[in-house]
Amino acid sequence: MSIVITGASGKLGTLILNQLLHKVPMNQIIACVRSRETAMPYEELGIMVRYCDYDRPDSLESAFAGASKLLFISSSHPDDTIRMRQHTHVIEAAKKSKVEQLLYTSFAFPEKSSIPLPHLHLATEHAIQATGIPYTFLRNALYIDFIGTLDLKTAIERGELRVPPGDWLFNSIPRQDIALAAAAVLAEPGHLNKTYELTASSPWSFSDLTAAMAELARRPVSLQQDATIQNWIYGFLRKIDASSTSNDLEQLIGRPSTSLKESIKPFISL
Ligand SMILES: NC(=O)c1ccc[n+]([C@@H]2O[C@H](COP(=O)([O-])OP(=O)(O)OC[C@H]3O[C@@H](n4cnc5c(N)ncnc54)[C@H](OP(=O)(O)O)[C@@H]3O)[C@@H](O)[C@H]2O)c1
Repeated sequence: MSIVITGASGKLGTLILNQLLHKVPMNQIIACVRSRETAMPYEELGIMVRYCDYDRPDSLESAFAGASKLLFISSSHPDDTIRMRQHTHVIEAAKKSKVEQLLYTSFAFPEKSSIPLPHLHLATEHAIQATGIPYTFLRNALYIDFIGTLDLKTAIERGELRVPPGDWLFNSIPRQDIALAAAAVLAEPGHLNKTYELTASSPWSFSDLTAAMAELARRPVSLQQDATIQNWIYGFLRKIDASSTSNDLEQLIGRPSTSLKESIKPFISL
């Protein structure tokens, strides 16, 4: 068996690879990167590295050759037109290389969103299904990193978190949990033609967030609704489905996702 992972130099790819090393022999893993510098940490560990650039179709077929499983980590390019073209290159190369199973990092509950980003993931899923290659869609929740835009440290200093009015609920979890689930799927046989929504199993609210902040800071933090708040993130959150949940992740990793209190520690740095 050989497991080929694209985007292996990225934050999610690195976490998945590290988890996978605990589950399968190292000689079954192939890390795909697009530069010499990002290849080095893997080469030093003795992991096989292949060059792969989504913009260079000629690099992809040889990168994917012999793959029993190809984990395609979605492109991080900010332009959706370019990103879709890159995804098309990867899918065409997977077909030509006769990849046996194609796993794709999609976005959770894309059907319920009203902006192009989740629709791009949905279009990529459809393009993968059209190839006939057995697939596994890992639909990732919005990473909990989004709370980095809320300046929790200042909110703790002030003793209040101000948010726009609304019934805000979130399914966000840390990348680490998503990586664990992806590694579990990669290491096990099966999971063919399945779609997993990798989210928290129950939603959390801003009240839960302020409670977790207060507990970590050992001081009160209240929640205030403020209609004058201007922060792009709320516009984005309103246009995606950031709240629907599923038990898929919990079932794949054999435990609930990381608690909110634990998840927000890196964003508070007290
Ligand atoms: N669910 C969410 O909240 C969320 C948030 C942000 C992004 N995402 C998506 O999830 C993916 C993984 O997240 P992440 O945190 O690991 O992102 P990341 O750290 O930015 O990693 C992106 C990876 O994609 C690689 N890549 C980008 N363009 C490429 C190309 N043309 N050819 C080959 N490889 C290319 C990068 O390679 P280099 O190291 O060479 O740049 C890097 O390894 C992102 O790419 C994005 O599509 C999801």
